[in-house]
Amino acid sequence: MTKITVVGAGFVGMSCAQRLAEQEVAEEIVLIDVVEGKPQGLALDINQAGAIEGYQALLIGTNDAADTAGSDLVIMTAGLPRKPGMDRSDLLEVNGKIVEGVAAYVAADSPEARVVVVSNPLDTMVYLMAEKLGFPKSQVVGMAGVLDSARMASFIAESMGGGVKDVRCMVLGGHGDSMVPIPDFSTLNGVSLPAIMGEDEISAINDRTRNGGAEIVNLLKTGSAFYAPSAAAVAMAKAITRGEERLLPCSAWLEGQYGLDGIYMGVPVVLGRNGVERIVELELDEAGQAKLEASASAIRGDIATLEGLGLL
Ligand code: LAC
Repeated sequence: MTKITVVGAGFVGMSCAQRLAEQEVAEEIVLIDVVEGKPQGLALDINQAGAIEGYQALLIGTNDAADTAGSDLVIMTAGLPRKPGMDRSDLLEVNGKIVEGVAAYVAADSPEARVVVVSNPLDTMVYLMAEKLGFPKSQVVGMAGVLDSARMASFIAESMGGGVKDVRCMVLGGHGDSMVPIPDFSTLNGVSLPAIMGEDEISAINDRTRNGGAEIVNLLKTGSAFYAPSAAAVAMAKAITRGEERLLPCSAWLEGQYGLDGIYMGVPVVLGRNGVERIVELELDEAGQAKLEASASAIRGDIATLEGLGLL
C-alpha cells in the first residue's frame, strides 16, 4: 500500500490531491492544511467526484500531522504564492518558516518518506527542507524543471503550430529568473530544436520560458499557476512511487556535478523509488555552463539570506 501526503490545500495542493486521486496513484492520500475545514471539505468533494469519474480514492483531509504518519511520499506545496511584481525570493522568510514546521513532523512521523518540494523559492526551500529533515539528500527533491520544461514545450508547439506531445524540453538551473533552457537538448520527437527553428525564435521561447511563472501571476493578479505545477509534481510522485526511473529535470543535491557543490539546483536526474537515483551530466557548451553557474550564485544568495534570518 502506498500512502502519499500532500501538504498545503491551496491551489497547487488541492490540484495535486485531485490528480493523485483521479489517477489512483496511491491507496491512501492525505491532504493536510492549517486552515480548519478546508482539507476536509476538499477531500469529501474529491472523493465524491470518484462516483462520477469512476476512481476509487481514499482521500483524507486533516489539520492533524499525526494523520500523515507513515507516508511513503510527501509533496510539500504549503507556502504563499507570489503577487504581481514579486520575485520568488521575496517569499524566503515566510515560506522558510512553513517548511521548517512541516519538516519537523515529516522527520518524526514519516522517516522513510521521499519528499518532493514545490514551495518557492524552490531551490532554497528544498535545501532548507533537506537540512531540517536530516534525510539522505537523494530522498529530497524539488519540482521545477518538469514545470519549466513543460512551459517551454508548450511555447514551442504554439510557435511551430504543432502538437505538444512530441515536444521534449530540458530546462536546467534554478527555478527563477536565471533558469537555463537548453535548446540543444530539446527535441521534436528526436529532432533537435536548432535544426528546425531559427535562433531568434529560440531566443524568444527561452525568454518566455524564464518568465513563464510571472506571465501567469500577472494575468491572475492573485495567486500563481497551479495546473501545470501540480501536473509536474504528480508526474514526479508517480516516477518515485512506481519506480519508473524517468529522466526528468529536478532540483537535486549537487556534489561536484556540473562543477557545483553543496546546493540543490535543477539538473537532469533519474527519478525512481529511492528518489534521485542518479544525476545525469550533460556536456554543456561554455555559455550554458556559465549560465548554470550564474543560476547557482543566485541560489547561494538566497541560502545566505536564510542563514541571515536564522532559519539555517
Ligand atoms: C510558477 C511558480 C509555481 O513557476 O513558481 O508558476
